Parts: sequence; C-alpha cells; structure tokens
Amino acid sequence: MTPLQTARDILCNSRKLVVFTGAGVSADSGIPTFRGSGETGFWGKFDPMKLASPEGFVEDPKLVYDWYNWRRSQLPQVRPNPAHEAIGRLQQEGAVVITQNVDDLHERVAPTGATILKLHGTIIEDKCFSCDHREKVDTANLPPLHRCPKCGAYMRPAIVWFGEALDPDVWDAAEDYCTGCDAMLVVGTSAQVYPAAGLVFEAHRRRANVVVVNLDESPLDEMANVVLYGRAADLVPQIVGP
Ligand code: OAD
Ligand code: ZN
Repeated sequence: MTPLQTARDILCNSRKLVVFTGAGVSADSGIPTFRGSGETGFWGKFDPMKLASPEGFVEDPKLVYDWYNWRRSQLPQVRPNPAHEAIGRLQQEGAVVITQNVDDLHERVAPTGATILKLHGTIIEDKCFSCDHREKVDTANLPPLHRCPKCGAYMRPAIVWFGEALDPDVWDAAEDYCTGCDAMLVVGTSAQVYPAAGLVFEAHRRRANVVVVNLDESPLDEMANVVLYGRAADLVPQIVGP
C-alpha cells in the first residue's frame, strides 16, 4: 500500500477521529507559520519573548498589542484552504478538531455544532490582563490598545503566551478526546510546543493510529503510522476525498 492509501484506510476505519492542527494548515491560506525550514516563520523574524509572553506585554503593551492587530488585519483577506474544507467534511462525520491555531479558519468551514478546541485561544477576542472581562474584536475595525472597562487594566489578545497555562476546561476536553480516539490526523505542526504536542504522543500511547501531514520532518514522524510530506492543501483533500 502507498502511504496515501494507508492514510485513507486509517481514516475510513476510524470511529472516533481527532484532527490535530498547527500553523501549517493555515500556511496555504497565506498565514505565516512560526517555525519550519523554507518558511519565513514569525519566530525567525520576531522575538517570541517580547511578543508572546506576559513579561513582554508588561514591558511594552502598545508594541505587543499593535503586533497582534497587524496579524488581525490580515484575517479579512484570507480564506480557508482545501485542507480546512476537507477537515470540515471529516467534522460532518463527527471528527473533533483540536487546534493550536488562533485564527478562525476552521470555524469558518465547520458544520454547526462541531467541536473545535482551541488550545492556544483565539486572536479575535481580547481578554483583560487582570480580570475575567473579554471582548470580541472586529477585525475590519480594529481597536487600539485600550483598558478594561471593569478594572482599568490593559486588554490583551485572548491567546495563550509562553509561560502561561492553557485553559483547564479546554485542556481537559482535549485530553479526553485524545485518550479516547482510535485515530488522529495531525496536520502542519512542528510539535515543538508543549503541552499541546504531548496530546499526539498520548493518543499514540493509547494505541490510536496516527497520520501525519507536514512539509518538514517533525518529532512525530518516528511514532506515526504514516507520514505524508507536502502541502496540507494538496494532501489533506487527497486523504479525505470529496
Ligand atoms: P510551527 O510554525 O512551529 O510549525 C509549522 C509546521 O507546519 C512546520 O513543521 C512546517 O514544516 C509545517 N508546514 C508549513 N507549511 C505547511 C504547509 N503548507 N502544509 C503542511 N505543513 C506545513 O507551528 P505550530 O506547530 O502550530 O503559539 O506551533 C505551535 C505554537 O507555537 C503555535 O500555536 C504558536 C507558536 O508559538 C501561539 O500562538 C500561542
Ligand atoms: Zn479587567
């Protein structure tokens, strides 16, 4: 069997499928990744400790907020690609999506009621740096850095930064799905960031079949049942079918 046939077989025979995605699934929509050879990843150009940590935000809130606004300003111009669409078809059959991505491209094609667990939060909301106040952000009309109407602290993007804990409800649900699934389709992640990457190893440890689609090699390759190297927008539709 070719790797493509093996991948198709695994998905066809799965009754509880999890699709686990990273920045590579949105790369073909034009959203830059963070790492990865041959790509101009964000963290090759920008310092993550300045732009993606609570300490960086405290040091220069405007610089950090403006950087996320620049990323937000790209969202109205990008569209889900054939990989998101193919994953949407899997969701129609009951697959759960667990994503590290903070964009909303999975949401745009997901069937109503589908489960999408966003491990690293969402860029199209703000949350207060101090209290629990949250606000939806209009990406066509971006607010400047501003303060929380409840407590006066600065508002910040509702994403998880380095050194911060994941939302415990989201994490618990993700762990449940990953320990209970019989197959996992992993798309476009370098598997460098924990605890997120650990979910794939956990699924494998519980004997789920693991299919990896990625442009480059990753630490997942050794344990995956099958690895397909290439672009998500080409490969995922070929695995999933029409
Ligand atoms: P990375 O940027 O670390 O990895 C992206 C992976 O996608 C790499 O392994 C690339 O080879 C692969 N890739 C690139 N283009 C692709 C394409 N067109 N098709 C398929 N694969 C492609 O992104 P993540 O693993 O998602 O945190 O990074 C994890 C976290 O680190 C992110 O969620 C982010 C970052 O700091 C937050 O935003 C909070
Ligand atoms: Zn507040």
